[in-house]
Amino acid sequence: MRQQIVAGNWKMNTTIAEGLELARAVAEKVQNPRGAVVFGTPATHLESVGQAIKGYEHLYIAGQNCHQEAKGAYTGEISADMLVSAGATYVIIGHSERRQYFKEDNEMLAKKVDIALQKGLIPIFCCGEPLEIREEDTHVSYVSSQLEASLYHLTEEQFSKIVIAYEPIWAIGTGKTASSAQAQEMHFEIRKALAGKYGATVADATPILYGGSCNATNAAELFGQPDVDGGLIGGASLKADDFVTIINALK
Ligand code: PGA
Repeated sequence: MRQQIVAGNWKMNTTIAEGLELARAVAEKVQNPRGAVVFGTPATHLESVGQAIKGYEHLYIAGQNCHQEAKGAYTGEISADMLVSAGATYVIIGHSERRQYFKEDNEMLAKKVDIALQKGLIPIFCCGEPLEIREEDTHVSYVSSQLEASLYHLTEEQFSKIVIAYEPIWAIGTGKTASSAQAQEMHFEIRKALAGKYGATVADATPILYGGSCNATNAAELFGQPDVDGGLIGGASLKADDFVTIINALK
């Protein structure tokens, strides 16, 4: 079976002390997760949270972003090497908030994917359509072109490291989850597009996570869909009990 993953995206929330308390609470409650559990903490927390979860199997930390250049005069930015040196295994790339508020476009994201892979990080590449695109019923081609523009330059070997997160923008932080049928439809289409580019074996092995108001109540139904391989969780990852329930909903 494909790798299953539940990744928390803490965004710009928690102090280091709060983050440590949260990660410790989750680590203590999770037993034999059926997939990888990832904490996407603020960059300032990575090292201490990483230390706190050391020794717990299947738990990892992720950066929420990295700069597209290896290093240099980019005040305030975080490099892929820095994330690696803090102990990160994964990095979230192309979250819709980065695209919207920090003007990250497909071309820049392609470079971020490259540097992440080059430095040995696993990119969790986010894609997803805004509400008007969903209403126009062009979401499948919209998401396919996001994938094409930022990922399809990768070789098959490089692509086999990628995790995709489908996050319809209208569902993020809104409490308006995609129905399990809507999620399955889109995940199926994404996998079909990947198969067209990289072949069925690679597409079948690529984890595709759902994100957008996924919570303790709806996770089991979403994860129960054949092409949904876990979730990227925002708000509900900040509550230890809810996050653990979501982790336990993996199939
Ligand atoms: P949400 O966020 O779960 O709070 O909707 C998901 C995300 O932005 O990754």
